[in-house]
Amino acid sequence: MPAKPFLDRKPDCVAPHSSALPLLRVRIEYAALNFRDFVTASGLFGAIPAGHVPGNEGAGIVLASEHPGFSAGDRVFVNGHGLGETLVGTMAGDVQVPAAAACLVPDEMTTLQAATAGVAALAAFAAQSVMGVGAQGLPVGISLAVTGAMGGTGRLAATYFARSGYRVTAITRDPAQADVLAELGVASVVGVPDAAALSEDTFGPETFDAAFDVTGGLVNWLCRHMRTDGTLALVGISAGYKVQINVLAVILRRLRLMGVKAGFGAEEKMEALRAVSKVLQPGDYERIASLAQPQDVARLLRGFGEGAGRGRIVVGLR
Ligand SMILES: NC(=O)c1ccc[n+]([C@@H]2O[C@H](COP(=O)([O-])OP(=O)(O)OC[C@H]3O[C@@H](n4cnc5c(N)ncnc54)[C@H](OP(=O)(O)O)[C@@H]3O)[C@@H](O)[C@H]2O)c1
Repeated sequence: MPAKPFLDRKPDCVAPHSSALPLLRVRIEYAALNFRDFVTASGLFGAIPAGHVPGNEGAGIVLASEHPGFSAGDRVFVNGHGLGETLVGTMAGDVQVPAAAACLVPDEMTTLQAATAGVAALAAFAAQSVMGVGAQGLPVGISLAVTGAMGGTGRLAATYFARSGYRVTAITRDPAQADVLAELGVASVVGVPDAAALSEDTFGPETFDAAFDVTGGLVNWLCRHMRTDGTLALVGISAGYKVQINVLAVILRRLRLMGVKAGFGAEEKMEALRAVSKVLQPGDYERIASLAQPQDVARLLRGFGEGAGRGRIVVGLR
C-alpha cells in the first residue's frame, strides 16, 4: 500500500493498531448520534477516551482515499471500527477512518437520508434475516412487534417493516405521544405493559410471529405473546441487559431468541441502506429523525440516558 502524504497518521484520531489499514479522509456532512455514543461519552461503562469526540456514524464526502474502492468525491456512510470511541468521531466534521468503516451511499439516497437510516437500518436489515422475514422467509402481512418504537433504532425499524408490508405493532412507553408512528405506516401502537404484566407467568395470546426488541426489558412479556415457532430478535438493552425469560414459553412455543449485531462489511451495509431507501416513502425520513445543531450535542447525548423517545438524531455539519 503506497503511503499517501495527505493522510496524517499521527493525530489522536487513529488508534495505534490501525496504522497498517488503508484510510479514508471524509468530510462528514451529517453525523448521527446513537445509544452507543451515550455509552462512550457518559463514562458509565468505562473511562471516557482521552480527546473524545462523539459520533460513531455519519455520512459525507471522501476527501482522500488510500483504498482502491473509494475516490475523492464519493459519497460514503461510515460507522463503527472505533469511530467516536478509539477514533475521533464524526462530530469532528473532518475524520480519518479505516476504509473498512465505509460504504458508498446508494445513488437513490442523499447523505442526509443515509445518516438518518444509518446504524438503525443495519440493525433492521440484520434482524430481518434473523427473524426469517423477507424474500425467502415469512410472508408479508405477518405480525411483528417492535419495542422502543419512538427511539432511533425502533422508529426506523418499525417504519422499514411497516413499509415492507408487515403488520407492525409498535410498543412504546407513551402511545399518546406516538402519532408519528401511524404516519409512518405502523398498524397499531400500544403501551409498554405495566410491571405486573411484564413479570406474570401466564401465557398471553399467540400474537406476534416475530419481534424486534431494542429494550431488553420486554423479553419475558414478548416470549409469552409470541406465536409458536416465532423468533425474537434481541437488538438492544435500553431498559437493561439482565433479562427475564419465561423458559416454559420458549420451550412450549418453540421460540427462537436470536442476537442481532449490525457489524456488516461494506457490501452488506450498502445493501441495507438500499433496502431501506426502496421502501421508505417521501416524508418518512423527516419523521424518523430530527436534525440538530452541533451546539445541541451534549444535551442530546444526555437524553439517551433518560430514554427519551426522539427518533434518530442527525447533526448537520455542512
Ligand atoms: N444490535 C445492534 O446492532 C444495534 C444497532 C443499533 C442499536 N442497538 C441498540 O438498540 C438500543 C437502542 O438504541 P437507540 O440508539 O435506538 O436508542 P434510543 O434512541 O434512546 O431509543 C431507545 C428507546 O428504548 C425505549 N426505552 C428506553 N428506556 C426504556 C425502559 N426503561 N423501558 C422500556 N423502554 C425503554 C424508548 O422507547 P419509547 O420512547 O418508544 O418508549 C427509547 O426511545 C441500544 O441498546 C443500542 O445499543 C443495537
